[in-house]
Amino acid sequence: MSFDASTLKHFDTAQQAAAFVAEQIVSACKKAVEQRDVFHWVLAGGSTPELCYRLLRDADLPWGKVHCWFGDERALPAGDPQRNETMARLALLDHVPMLAGHIHAIHFNQGTEAAAIAYARQMKEVSTFDFVLLGMGEDGHTASLFPNNPALESAELAVPVYQSPKPPLERVSMGLKALNNHQQCMILATGSSKKEVLKNISLGAPLPVSRIDRAVWVVDTAAWSNK
Ligand code: 6PG
Repeated sequence: MSFDASTLKHFDTAQQAAAFVAEQIVSACKKAVEQRDVFHWVLAGGSTPELCYRLLRDADLPWGKVHCWFGDERALPAGDPQRNETMARLALLDHVPMLAGHIHAIHFNQGTEAAAIAYARQMKEVSTFDFVLLGMGEDGHTASLFPNNPALESAELAVPVYQSPKPPLERVSMGLKALNNHQQCMILATGSSKKEVLKNISLGAPLPVSRIDRAVWVVDTAAWSNK
């Protein structure tokens, strides 16, 4: 994957990178609501996007028109501190006037496979996601699509994930086809732990995150030095 000025935005700090992504989400939201009266946003999990979400608390957005989806979710009970939904709620969603029904959480009460089936059914409501925000793991996974895991090759909108190398073992992830069904996608990768994998990706390593189409990568100097 070759990066250029249009596909990689490099900032000195993680804070600047997060602020840039937040600005992009604000403009994408305003444009989508102006054009289609709705904004379908896929949120990234993990820890990296938390600062971006916090920065959006003060954004003047038509929150009643925003639908939040999760690129993936960990198979944990509602409210568990390790859930991606919990992080997003604490950082942003519980601080803005979202409509409860517009936060499309993934629930595992009936098990992981049933959670994926139910989520895929909900996702059918959306023709195209207006904005997909993703992170990336040190092994080049994104959402919960891990290298050499069968979930990566699924054509389903949402797929159960087993034997995840990153705990918990079980998850639900949006499938590659769903993640690539977007008007705009940004991959936020900051911190020194992402430096090696980002270099490998720039040299063509065939990793799950490399299969995300038309993404703009947003990185900081700790993760990317173009020397
Ligand atoms: C998860 C995330 C995962 C995350 C990456 C990066 O459930 O863990 O969805 O895909 O985005 O692992 O995680 P960090 O941002 O914590 O480095």
